[in-house]
Amino acid sequence: MVHILHVVGARPNFMKVAPVLRALGSTGARQTLVHTGQHYDGNMSEAFFVQLGIPDPDVNLGVGSGTHAVQTAQIMVGMEQCLIERRPDLVLVYGDVNSTVAAALVASKLHVPVGHVEAGLRSGDLTMPEEINRLVTDRLASLLFTPSEDGNEHLLREGIDPARVHMVGNVMIDTLVRMLPATDSLSVLEQYGLSGNGGLKPFVLVTLHRPSNVDDPPMLEQLLAALADIAERAPVIFPVHPRTRARLDEGRWSRPHLRLVDPLGYLEFLALLRRAALVVTDSGGIQEETTYLGVPCLTVRDNTERPVTVSLGTNTLVGRNPERLHFEALRVLGGQAKRGTVPPLWDGRAGERIAGIVTRARACGPIP
Ligand code: UD1
Repeated sequence: MVHILHVVGARPNFMKVAPVLRALGSTGARQTLVHTGQHYDGNMSEAFFVQLGIPDPDVNLGVGSGTHAVQTAQIMVGMEQCLIERRPDLVLVYGDVNSTVAAALVASKLHVPVGHVEAGLRSGDLTMPEEINRLVTDRLASLLFTPSEDGNEHLLREGIDPARVHMVGNVMIDTLVRMLPATDSLSVLEQYGLSGNGGLKPFVLVTLHRPSNVDDPPMLEQLLAALADIAERAPVIFPVHPRTRARLDEGRWSRPHLRLVDPLGYLEFLALLRRAALVVTDSGGIQEETTYLGVPCLTVRDNTERPVTVSLGTNTLVGRNPERLHFEALRVLGGQAKRGTVPPLWDGRAGERIAGIVTRARACGPIP
């Protein structure tokens, strides 16, 4: 029986592993789930396991926070021990976080083949830690599962053997499709006073956590000011990531009109996302989710590794430019939102395609 070891660590990994675990589970594969512990707060980690029905991890490395070197190194030390003990046939890694690259490095050096789910994404911006993680992980992987055509193009341009590259669609959308009906019964909109007898109030949903936005105090201050201006037109709900919370606590910002709340569960966030008049974000996954849902999204970054969300979807890059953010937000709230379409293979079945490819690859002998 083939033995697959999945490595996850940070919040965006959890919605990606869930459909792959389910699909491989139904093939009868033996599976081991490793949580590196990169994210450890209940509302950044455990809540997602519970809501998405992900089994408890078989191993938790408990690495926690640290500088990039400390965090990556601690994951590597824990992973080495774990892989020597468990000797899987394939390690599957997800996305572009430090846990992804650390696990790929260790597995490769132990000659355990690596599969990368969400391969081929490129922002072209090497100041983003995630871009470094993507490049290294893809270079080491034997099986590269891409969410969109641009992923294949990048990998082929970088000289990756096309036989290793498989366009499977978007696993994060698998989870969204599966979980969407479960948001119907939630009362989050009522809790935030966004819905009642008079129907749904247009509102803006915000997430910001990139170091380039929140670790730069003047930038953070200007973004908060732009959001406060937007809040004069529509309520702004801002679930605050721990990194952002720490920066906000360090400063003495005035932000009277913003509704800053703790990070939300997957379902609660999705319930807001699907009904928002506008989403403002610097997240990668949320650019994809808004495109799928047809909700207008303004991305506070100069580039994106998910260009299909701009070319086909509802996403607009406003740059790290608070004035442009304000201008574009008022346009959307004034009824001039961009319309989009759903990219090919973002259909809820990417996990099944991955399971099929892994099973077939394995049927031909050990994965090279
Ligand atoms: C990481 C990923 C990023 C992803 C994001 C989603 C890397 C390089 N970055 O960024 O790509 O978009 O996750 O959330 O892997 N903290 C807590 N509790 C937690 C987790 C973090 O308080 O459960 C705080 C700590 O102070 C920590 C900081 O948040 O130092 C940042 O966490 P870290 O995992 O280093 O990076 P993220 O900014 O979350």
